[in-house]
Amino acid sequence: MKKLILSIFLVAMAMVSCNNKSFQEETRQMEWRGVMIDVSRHFYPMDVLKRQIDLMGNYGLNTLHLHLTDAAGWRLEIKKYPRLTDLGAWRTHQTWKEWWAQRPCATEETKGNEWFTPAFSDAQNGFGGFYTQDEMRELVSYAQERGITIVPEIEFPAHSEEVVAAYPWVGYNHAEMDMTKDSTYMFMADVLAEVAEIFPAPYIHVGGDESATQKGLQPEAMRRIQKIVEGLGKRMIVWDEGLTDNPADSAQIIMVWRNPDTATEAIRLGHAVIMCPSNWCYLDSYQDRPQGQPEAMGGYRPLSHIYNVPLDSALCAEATSTGHLLGIQACIFTEYVPTPEILEYQIWPRALAIAERGLGRTRSYEEFHKWAISVADSMRAVGVNAFDLGNEYGERHESLQSVEHVGLGTKVTYNNPYNSYYKAGGDSTLTDGICGTWNNNDQRWQGFIRDIDIVVDLGEEKEVSSVELSFLQILGPEIYLPATVNVSFLREDNSNIASSECKMPVDLYEAPFAVQPYKIESVQKARYLHITAQRTPRRGWLFLDEVVVR
Ligand code: ACM
Repeated sequence: MKKLILSIFLVAMAMVSCNNKSFQEETRQMEWRGVMIDVSRHFYPMDVLKRQIDLMGNYGLNTLHLHLTDAAGWRLEIKKYPRLTDLGAWRTHQTWKEWWAQRPCATEETKGNEWFTPAFSDAQNGFGGFYTQDEMRELVSYAQERGITIVPEIEFPAHSEEVVAAYPWVGYNHAEMDMTKDSTYMFMADVLAEVAEIFPAPYIHVGGDESATQKGLQPEAMRRIQKIVEGLGKRMIVWDEGLTDNPADSAQIIMVWRNPDTATEAIRLGHAVIMCPSNWCYLDSYQDRPQGQPEAMGGYRPLSHIYNVPLDSALCAEATSTGHLLGIQACIFTEYVPTPEILEYQIWPRALAIAERGLGRTRSYEEFHKWAISVADSMRAVGVNAFDLGNEYGERHESLQSVEHVGLGTKVTYNNPYNSYYKAGGDSTLTDGICGTWNNNDQRWQGFIRDIDIVVDLGEEKEVSSVELSFLQILGPEIYLPATVNVSFLREDNSNIASSECKMPVDLYEAPFAVQPYKIESVQKARYLHITAQRTPRRGWLFLDEVVVR
């Protein structure tokens, strides 16, 4: 029955896909036009991957990068190390969110204890799954028939909780492999040999990101892994820590996931580069007004934003011709993607923007957008759970034009400093009339990793009727609404005329995403406004964009 549904789906998709000729008309196509799917944080059955392969093939994407291993589950059968899947593919909780929240190191008793037993289980009692080698071979040939190469990723040395749980002798601590032991490299050599035999792709990705231990050892460790990979006849891909944290061998291909400018430096040093800077290419983000969308990691990355992924045109022209800009990729990490339906929803139609740039098409954004709406409609018509692009709400309306108010341009004194990473426009941010977007990273929202304590100086005593502050909440990155906001109205001589308080609405405590105004109405003649915002017991971040005084 499943096969029949799949065949009907394929015929339907072939009818709605654009034809191959249009791809051939494009100039400056990138060799790698990819989608990365994280099958570790949540496991997706074979037919779900096949469906994404069909869609990719129909719209000019040609590389499926599978993030097969990570803390939350090892997803590929390795014959020499069966515990990787006997244990490491099955965890104690169905969703990543539940599992992560209860992990032992998240509790007070075990915080700081690096040697805990992660919560894995077995096939009878646990949640998850894995692909057998035969299944993966089948997927590889299914993809090949549709012009798609599958590139496997095996994380090293970090993001390896499941490896250490299965084979503690590989571990430096609960999360990272030991870079000093020969046995670690023997383990990796065995695993990669089996991987190379399953995937005919010319590349193997070995992670290399976000290692927090064994500082200084990683460059040599990555070179040892590189030798193994090259010995298997493959080229090694690493995340961009390979460049910024290590002096990497230029034969290593750099996948740029952080600062897009890193690409220029990598290419200058002779690396080939694949671009997937997270602020543009990560699909674990909201594609429309977050209220009403599936919970996401955070960020607002609609189709238009992804389309504008910065690929400097000179770099693009030069590097594609020299082969150094190998490609571009959308990535979906799946901490907040518990079902195949949400996976599909987050990918489509946004991955079309990556295809468009990778294909080097020259039509205008308006033309592309119109086409993408029709593609999303046709996908939905045949049962693909694509986002309804034609009914997009779009950016936060308040952010689209500046707001006029009595406090505009006035001086703010910070009794508690803002965080330097989220400083936005610095000291003028909260009275510059510019409101934040749906994205906490927009440098319009100012971030505080403490309670807020500021004084706004209106310059002279002025009639004030209300003070309104909007705060952001995004549970994923621990950005929370404040429990309370207090405003004290002070005279010229600093004497307090009145104080008022506004509390967080209780129903928003668990809201995955919220932008909530705290409005204090009190008619006063004041020069100074002393404003404090107190965090809830969860602590975390406070994000504020403007103090609107009327
Ligand atoms: C990554 O997002 N850590 C590559």
